[in-house]
Amino acid sequence: TASRDIACRVRGFGAYTPVDVLTNFDLEKFVETTDEWITTRTGIRQRHRLAEGQNASDAAAEAARLALADSGMEPGEITHVINATCTPDYLCPNTACLVEAKLGIMGAMAFDFNAACSGYVYGLSMARAIVAAQPEARVLLTATEALTRRLNWADRTTCVLFGDGAGASVITADGEGALLEDVLCASDGNLGGLLTIGGGTHTPYAKGDPVGDDFFVQMNGRDVFKHAVRNMAAISQDVLARNGLTTDDVALLIPHQANLRIIEAVGDRLGVPAERVFVNLHEFGNTSAASVPLAIADARAKGVLRPGMRVLLATFGGGFTWGAALLHF
Ligand code: ACO
Repeated sequence: TASRDIACRVRGFGAYTPVDVLTNFDLEKFVETTDEWITTRTGIRQRHRLAEGQNASDAAAEAARLALADSGMEPGEITHVINATCTPDYLCPNTACLVEAKLGIMGAMAFDFNAACSGYVYGLSMARAIVAAQPEARVLLTATEALTRRLNWADRTTCVLFGDGAGASVITADGEGALLEDVLCASDGNLGGLLTIGGGTHTPYAKGDPVGDDFFVQMNGRDVFKHAVRNMAAISQDVLARNGLTTDDVALLIPHQANLRIIEAVGDRLGVPAERVFVNLHEFGNTSAASVPLAIADARAKGVLRPGMRVLLATFGGGFTWGAALLHF
């Protein structure tokens, strides 16, 4: 059965980006790159960076406060906090518990999951499953990243691409809000080595060991590019087809904001004209799991995303993971 049979409303949206901005010109000062190279290859002009002492959980809590206010709900009403991140504050405790504490939520089920850049769309899928099993559930979905903490600032092939930020939504079975018409998620674990961030227990660091290059984001950009375009387009077509829809029925495509060229190629494959594709990566860079909810909140704030619109979300990330969702505002 298509998931549109399950009532699931995304009732509130919020986003947060740190105040500190690093422009391409700032990067030119310490890594061998140019604004011209970065903008023509990626579209990115600047990215935001968490302040010292400010962490992924702080950004998530800020976004969550806004999402709660937008939904008209109080922290005390939340029954589940589910948080997408590949850059958690700690291996333990999980970031969702830290967010819970910061918001004064008590007793909710709270856990993290990692689907890299696909985190928010994966989270919509899990939130839908939660409210399907438990219709009174009130799920807070956060997606937050502290990627600048895991960039090798001497590696120009990766450090120019990423930024920090967070997005959040409140999901329930009932009430006012965007209808989650469908969501589809997929992965291919065989390709995980093409995009990695170490620092887990795979590498048994001993006290005093220097960290290796594997501690930071490492990526085969060309291969990622190819798989991202193919899989984002294919899963978008799948989610539309199984709902009897075409891209003509989509008012706005909100893709993962990794690279303008990837976004343009996905738009081309799907036959969605550029004016119906939302892009804000020039302001934020690639914020991984946070990118889609940041883009949704931004598109609403800018008046590009309006009530009545059907939006197609499409994501791709490390793992590899990918996904697509249909939200009717
Ligand atoms: N500044 C200047 N020169 C650079 C930089 C830089 N920041 N980075 C690489 N170069 C150089 C390379 O060294 C190379 O030089 P050479 O020809 O002398 O060897 C040249 O530029 C071309 O490098 P390529 O890697 O071939 O450049 P490409 O056109 O493939 O662009 C990029 C690289 C932007 C990373 C591209 O492959 C890409 O966008 N891939 C997708 C990856 C992505 O967006 N990942 C995001 C994370 S994954 C996700 O979100 C799903």
